[in-house]
Amino acid sequence: MSDNFVIDVTRIRNEVRQKMQDGPITETYGKDSDRVIGVLNDVVATEVVCWLRYTRHAISASGIDRAQVSAQFTDHAKEELDHALRAADRVNQLGGEPAFDPAKLTDRSHTDYTTPLDGDLNQMLRDNLEAERIVISTYQEIIRWLGDGDPTTRRLMESILEEEEDHADDLVDLLGI
Ligand SMILES: [Fe+2]
Ligand SMILES: [Fe+2]
Repeated sequence: MSDNFVIDVTRIRNEVRQKMQDGPITETYGKDSDRVIGVLNDVVATEVVCWLRYTRHAISASGIDRAQVSAQFTDHAKEELDHALRAADRVNQLGGEPAFDPAKLTDRSHTDYTTPLDGDLNQMLRDNLEAERIVISTYQEIIRWLGDGDPTTRRLMESILEEEEDHADDLVDLLGI
């Protein structure tokens, strides 16, 4: 099989000068950037809701294993906030407006904000595990949809996905299931 890979640098040099205001989005960008921004803003909302849920659970956790579980929730909360900020930065790079409007967060989020009664540790662990398993599935679909059209966003989502899988694993360990 012959490999005829040739980069037409002259064409690319001409194209990039046409739309300098698009910054990192060039003619070779392989997705509809508005759709990627929309999908990423749903990720921002999801991560903010996950940050809120873990933070609330860390504060409200009660029972004999409270300290250990609460510390784990606090660790996860920090990482969810970091995910939200990284997705929001990418929205901004792509020329979009990051969606932090609290009124729209629950509509956009893939996961629910839940508040188990009486600091019920077991229910909190189960709610968070369910949420992690939802984002693992939705982020895998986003990664497959991005394909090679936007490798930078795909790598961002892959790196977030890796941490969500760690979170799910931590929760399974704590649940002892
Ligand atoms: Fe996350
Ligand atoms: Fe997570």
